[in-house]
Amino acid sequence: MEIEKIPITNRKDEHILLVSQEKVESTETTWLEHIRFVHNTMPELDLDAVKFSGKFLGRNISAPIIIGAMTGGTPLTKRINVSLAKAAQKYKIPMMVGSQRVILKRPETKSSFSAVRECAPDVPIVGNIGIAQIATSENFDYIHEIIDNIEADAVAIHFNVIQEVIQPEGDKNFAGVLQNIAKLKDQIDIPIIIKETGCGISKNTARQLFDIGIEHIDVSGVGGTSWIAVEYYRAKKYGEVSKKELGKLFWDWGIPTAATILEVQSAVTRPESTKIIGSGGIRSGIDVAKAIRLGANFAALARPFLIVALEGESSIETFIEQTIKELQITMLLTGSKTIEELKKAPVVIGSSLKEWIEKRKIDFT
Ligand SMILES: Cc1cc2nc3c(=O)[nH]c(=O)nc-3n(C[C@H](O)[C@H](O)[C@H](O)COP(=O)(O)O)c2cc1C
Repeated sequence: MEIEKIPITNRKDEHILLVSQEKVESTETTWLEHIRFVHNTMPELDLDAVKFSGKFLGRNISAPIIIGAMTGGTPLTKRINVSLAKAAQKYKIPMMVGSQRVILKRPETKSSFSAVRECAPDVPIVGNIGIAQIATSENFDYIHEIIDNIEADAVAIHFNVIQEVIQPEGDKNFAGVLQNIAKLKDQIDIPIIIKETGCGISKNTARQLFDIGIEHIDVSGVGGTSWIAVEYYRAKKYGEVSKKELGKLFWDWGIPTAATILEVQSAVTRPESTKIIGSGGIRSGIDVAKAIRLGANFAALARPFLIVALEGESSIETFIEQTIKELQITMLLTGSKTIEELKKAPVVIGSSLKEWIEKRKIDFT
């Protein structure tokens, strides 16, 4: 089958297959290994007293852990979404759905997303649309359809420039995007989350976004799932030589997760209202704690949730409980009873991350 002729919904299933079966992680790490907590031998804390409940998008949540944006649009992805949403509701953690662009062309796919809200009525649910769509839109009426589809608490605009430009059927025009984000912001009454998909966000970009009033950024840095890798495998399958070579070359492109969290936090001007989501290769409760210590308010995991969702609902629950336990133990071992205390826990930064902080003149203590 020619790649241009694959309906979007099938492409989504193809992504699910590739992400779950191939080596799609970047070969560069998150650099979270360059931050070490100083162990507290005598924490004077009861593990059960370690607390991290809070609020996100106006709703109560029980842990700063988010199910990252992935999917929807096909029967298979509806099943995945339903399983994840049930767990989100049970453990009171937020969930982001995958790109809802498909519902604009094929309204019959709406239920693969709306099922998420039906299964998770009480937790923050985040909608999703791509940057290319926003950059080229003359009006944003369709965004209301996306919001209403899942009664969204926020809508994420995902930046996937590198993925779009290397895929032949991808969008290539991103001019005017900042202006359009500002316009859209004035037309909707829920927050916009600006989100990368694995290449990270610099302090310069973050500043431009904060200047137009954006308050939520999901950094999605290098170190986890590489979408360029996913495109590489698709190109290989369809015999597209140029795209395959580009995929190989740009496989690790971007800012490692630890560095991008520092970049974005260093650009914050309104700390009371700004929320940073640390993501890209977050794989354990220790990673969540490190992301928070570097300046994130929450951490999102995508691929790990897909893997357990494909195993079944009990695997999702075990994974969430385990990740929460790991975060709780990390907090105990750093003497942090609350997230506020974790944000100040003593750490030592080394190697490439230390150099990045110095070269980029980032203030981090
Ligand atoms: C199967 C799959 C599908 C994804 N689809 C989307 C999407 O539709 N919209 C989006 O914003 N990000 C999407 N992402 C990107 C993730 O939200 C995340 O930014 C990226 O995978 C890095 O996180 P990870 O290393 O924990 O997987 C997807 C990721 C996966 C694994």
